[in-house]
Amino acid sequence: MYEDVARILISEEDLQRRVRELAQQIEADYQGKDLLLVGLLKGAVHFMVDLTRAMKRPVAIDFMAVSSYGASTESSGIVRILKDLDESIEGKHVLIVEDIVDTGLTLKYILEMLRRRGPASLRVCALLNKKDRRLVDVPLDYVGFDIPNEFVVGYGLDFRQVYRNLPFVAVLKPEVYQRAS
Ligand code: IMP
Repeated sequence: MYEDVARILISEEDLQRRVRELAQQIEADYQGKDLLLVGLLKGAVHFMVDLTRAMKRPVAIDFMAVSSYGASTESSGIVRILKDLDESIEGKHVLIVEDIVDTGLTLKYILEMLRRRGPASLRVCALLNKKDRRLVDVPLDYVGFDIPNEFVVGYGLDFRQVYRNLPFVAVLKPEVYQRAS
C-alpha cells in the first residue's frame, strides 16, 4: 500500500495535532450543551474516532451513510441515504463530522435534509476543504485543513474503497489510477 503513495500531503503528526485543536475548540463552543456528533460513513470514521477521543466532555455519536449518484470521483448532488440516523435529532445540538468537502453538493443536501428534522442547532466540522472545487455555498464551522484540488486518500479517505487505513493524507502515484481504469 505504501509503495502506491506519491506524496504525503498531511503527516500523521499534523493530523493528530489539528484534530486535538478542533476537539478543544468544539468543547469550548458547546460548553453546557448536550452535543450529538453525526459522522458520515465511511470517510469520517477515522476522524470521528480521534476527534471524540480527544474530547473530555460527554458526547453522543451517530452515523449516516450516503452515496452520491454519478461517476466515482465526481459528485452529482443527488444523494441516496444508505443508512439513516438511529435517533431523532429534534431539539438537539448537532455537529456533522465530514471527511472532505469538495463540490459541497453532498453536504448541502444533507444539511437541508437534517435541518427539516428540527435540530436546536446544526453545524459542520470538516477535516479537509477543497475550496477551489466548490460549486455550491455551504457553511463550514470547523475546518481541519484547506487543501489544493487534488484527489487524496488516507485517514478515512479511499480510492475504490482502499487506502482508508493510511495514517496520513496522501496523493497516489498516477499509475495506480491507470491500473484501475
Ligand atoms: P462533494 O459532494 O463533491 O463535496 O463530495 C464529497 C464527497 O466526495 C466526500 O465525502 C468524499 O467521499 C468524496 N471525495 C471528494 N474528494 C475526495 C478526495 O480527494 N478523495 C477521496 N474522496 C473524495
